[in-house]
Amino acid sequence: MTGRFIAFEGGEGSGKSTQARRLADHLGALLTREPGGTPLGERLRQLVLDPPQSEAPSDRAEALMIAAARAQHVAEVVKPALEKGQDVVSDRFIGSSLAYQGAGRLLGVSEVEAVSLFATDGLQADLNIFIDVDEATAQERLNRSLDRIELAGKDFHSQVAEAYRKIATNDPEHWVVINGNATVDEVTEEIMIAINQRL
Ligand code: TMP
Repeated sequence: MTGRFIAFEGGEGSGKSTQARRLADHLGALLTREPGGTPLGERLRQLVLDPPQSEAPSDRAEALMIAAARAQHVAEVVKPALEKGQDVVSDRFIGSSLAYQGAGRLLGVSEVEAVSLFATDGLQADLNIFIDVDEATAQERLNRSLDRIELAGKDFHSQVAEAYRKIATNDPEHWVVINGNATVDEVTEEIMIAINQRL
């Protein structure tokens, strides 16, 4: 029996990391994140999100570095866990690349999807939970210093949010949209209901 693979998706300040932790605790699942989740992936994360100014990757380099981190993450962590029957909860996965690199960076959603599927050797999440928050709520919650992609500007992040909504609407079998504007406990409850219905 293979484990279930659930990915949390959303923009900055959506509260997805808190919710991913809560769900992983509830399911007894392995909690991991992207970009990252392995020593190599965490190094790539730092190069992508916090590079010295002179070394900021180009948009395509950014997409490929994130994909490389994803390939390592799937091969070393996600796939072995699922094969042992362990559930896995990932804070971000392929959906983030579709929304941020495909739509936000204008690299093309289907092109970026092809790169991601090459990286994962075809592995996809069983369920993607998109936590949708309005801009004002996201701004209120962002009280820490921002990384290079978070600093990409308002238009970029509106495009990311729109892309998530479109991707989720077009693939209801693999995506569920959760209203993230409610309290943390209310959002958790909505997620638990969705999980019980869907998995
Ligand atoms: P986090 O702070 O929510 O963990 O997200 C890390 C940053 O990486 C966030 O700005 C979104 C970005 N990111 C992408 O642009 N593409 C991806 O595929 C992933 C996984 C993250």
